[in-house]
Amino acid sequence: MKKIKLSSVLFTLLGLIAVPLSALAHECPPGFPDEPVISNHMEQSDIVSGVLSFDAVSDHGEALFVAPFNVCDGQGRPATTGGGDKRVADEPAKLRTSAPDADSCGGCHAQPRPGGAGDFVANVFVLAQALDPVTFSVAPEFSNDRNTLGMNGSGPIEMLAREMTIDLQTQAANLSDGDHTLTTKGVDFEITIFDDEVVASRGVNTDLIIRPFHQTGAVVSLREFSDNAFNHHHGIQAEERFDLNPAKGFDSDFDEDGVHRELTVGDVTAVTIWQAQLGVPGRVMPRDREKRHMVKRGERVFDDIGCTACHKPALRLESRLFVEPNPFNPPGTCSDPSVCPEYAYDMTKQGEGPLLEKGPRGTAIVRAYTDLKRHNLCDDDIRHFCNEQLAQGRPDQDGKPGSEFFITRKLWDVGNSAPYGHRGDLSTITEAILAHGGEARASRDAFVARSYREQMAVVKFLKTLQVVPEENIFC
Ligand code: HEC
Ligand code: HEC
Repeated sequence: MKKIKLSSVLFTLLGLIAVPLSALAHECPPGFPDEPVISNHMEQSDIVSGVLSFDAVSDHGEALFVAPFNVCDGQGRPATTGGGDKRVADEPAKLRTSAPDADSCGGCHAQPRPGGAGDFVANVFVLAQALDPVTFSVAPEFSNDRNTLGMNGSGPIEMLAREMTIDLQTQAANLSDGDHTLTTKGVDFEITIFDDEVVASRGVNTDLIIRPFHQTGAVVSLREFSDNAFNHHHGIQAEERFDLNPAKGFDSDFDEDGVHRELTVGDVTAVTIWQAQLGVPGRVMPRDREKRHMVKRGERVFDDIGCTACHKPALRLESRLFVEPNPFNPPGTCSDPSVCPEYAYDMTKQGEGPLLEKGPRGTAIVRAYTDLKRHNLCDDDIRHFCNEQLAQGRPDQDGKPGSEFFITRKLWDVGNSAPYGHRGDLSTITEAILAHGGEARASRDAFVARSYREQMAVVKFLKTLQVVPEENIFC
């Protein structure tokens, strides 16, 4: 839990100070009669000292998430790519393919409210951002076309991945050369060890770090994703990625747009905490008794036909805390406690609501319907999910190109996150189920073999899993 300094409590009680936000505020260049969208930035020291309340931090994160950035905020990256490297060719100010492609994070993450999933029109052409020169094509040889995911419940997901990573790495460290199956939270991962190194693995990279973000499992944390996204989509540079990063020569205007410290370490913490604390998806049950009965039947069939082998109905978190930053963050994303000291909150006590469900003895229950493992849903007959040509963060797995492997999709928001599939090109849950081949072929065929009523029951059950509409949130 966050510690609150006695001195700050006293000051607040005495009414001597207003919220001590940092002095940093960007201005438009002299003679340019306009103003930035974000008028104040937040310092990490004010967050970890407890001077700022949880709500103040989270509200600032939301403001950053929905802000339609302008050039006075530092929008645009004339000298760099969306991958964060110096570019050679000129870059258009905005471009739907290689980006900057949107005004705000909330421009894509909007359903049913900011932080949620997105329409097909909000798809991202993943990897096109790193091209120099840019591409004007949406063809699959240049990028992977992906639909926007929602971040409701992403705090618990990041913490599950951290606990699984520690578990897998600890188990592997004690094993000798040969083939092994590691099990963490009931999920099996097959690995091969040679000369004390993990040389092959299925479902996870050989470093055994579970990367729960991106549909291919390429990013460790909300923080890493946010640093990437601010630069990629908006040309807003996080100081930890650029200004404070030795790999970028500590250059405080690496993108050469004239604005320094575009996003402070504290800003990135705030936007991370806001995403982590978004209401956890839940169940919205029909009022009608017969319909409820059908939903229950569908839930049983979903289990009987093997969907739960990958879409695990619940995983248990040993700790209820969300702790920022993630120790597995790669270089360029804050993981160094001397730059971004730790900040933590209890996910079962603080946040937007519905809050994370408590489990016994200090644990928590995450009903996300995933195993956070990569699977291959391609076979010779069923090819829908085999469209990608570029591997992203996935080395070859099992002798097959990495581009065929996707993390088991979380289903806890599937009832109101249409469209479906990693490209968002499926309009119904039924089409998404029928598109399961490869490792999921047997359970897909078992679905097809069921009666029409039972198939309908499965679909009805899945539709109850939702980002809970505002009018249904009672806490
Ligand atoms: C142009 C649309 C678009 C914009 C703008 C956008 N995103 Fe996203 N976001 C996506 C898409 C598409 C995905 C899924 C990417 C994938 O699976 O490869 C995604 C995924 C994510 C994820 C990972 C979710 C998961 O479960 O894997 C996070 C976190 C995220 N975005 C944060 C942000 C933040 C923060 C911003 C603003 C700085 C932002 N996004 C701006 C479209 C967008
Ligand atoms: C072998 C693991 C596995 C099994 C078994 C499995 N799935 Fe999936 N499921 C996945 C993966 C991986 C995805 C992501 C596919 C993509 O978009 O690339 C997915 C995606 C989905 C989606 C799309 C969700 C969305 O928001 O786009 C639905 C719906 C779904 N699964 C339902 C089911 C049902 C019902 C069953 C049982 C008949 C089932 N799955 C069995 C791994 C599995």
